[in-house]
Amino acid sequence: MSDTPVLKIDNLGHSYGKFMVIEDISITVPKGELTALIGPNGAGKTTFYNVVSGRFPPSKGKIFFKGRDITGMPAHKLVSLGLLRSFQITNIFPNLTVLENVMVPLLLHYKKGYSLWHSLKNEKALYAKAEEVLEKVGILSEAKRLAHELAYGDKRLVEMAIVLAREPELVLLDEPTAGMNPEETERMISLIKELSERFGTTFFLTEHDMNVVFSIAKRIFVLHHGILLATGTPAEIRIHPEVRKAYLGGSADA
Ligand SMILES: Nc1ncnc2c1ncn2[C@@H]1O[C@H](COP(=O)(O)OP(=O)(O)OP(=O)(O)O)[C@@H](O)[C@H]1O
Ligand SMILES: [Mg+2]
Repeated sequence: MSDTPVLKIDNLGHSYGKFMVIEDISITVPKGELTALIGPNGAGKTTFYNVVSGRFPPSKGKIFFKGRDITGMPAHKLVSLGLLRSFQITNIFPNLTVLENVMVPLLLHYKKGYSLWHSLKNEKALYAKAEEVLEKVGILSEAKRLAHELAYGDKRLVEMAIVLAREPELVLLDEPTAGMNPEETERMISLIKELSERFGTTFFLTEHDMNVVFSIAKRIFVLHHGILLATGTPAEIRIHPEVRKAYLGGSADA
């Protein structure tokens, strides 16, 4: 079963009213493979993430997570199965410390053993776990600060820590570097790469900066007007004539 893809999507489509936004998308993401979804503005990337993460059910098609049919399952159920997406920045608690922000998902994650929670020993274990997650994303030194005091890039790292605390197998990241300055972008991207390599977490991200995409993704899917235009390695996508056309407005030489 080890070669069961972490994500398999068959003929996925979604419409808002009569307006078909994504159409007939079939893709497979192997476990641990850092994957990117790219496409011009309005291509349907966020819609795709919303559907796959259970925000709303698809109008058509099937979604399989680790071989299991998850089509139409709500987001909270998918979270408990190990499929997470990054949350918006507003979902971090500004008046809690960075450490407490990570404690919240840990408490939810381990709530099955709720009664054990009253034991100090287990509480200590949870704090240790929270610190471990903060160490993974490189912001352990900020643990005691209130989340709202952090720089923007660090807040996004808290968001990443909150996601990782749930020990996800698949993480959907819709523009994880949006609004970041070049150093913050560089830090976030090397973190994603490192987490992917060290822990085998599968990341599936969108990113507008093509240099970033080509440097980290093992496999790239290209959406254009809601249709899957191309699939391939960065080297294949870089020279793909239709992709160049879609991005460069017809010039294949730019
Ligand atoms: N809730 C909605 N109701 C109706 N139309 C929508 C809705 N959300 C998105 N759309 C439309 O669906 C299309 C795809 O939008 P989507 O946000 O998925 O694109 P995107 O690839 O994420 O774009 P961007 O790169 O700008 O983030 C656009 O034409 C958009 O206007
Ligand atoms: Mg979008």
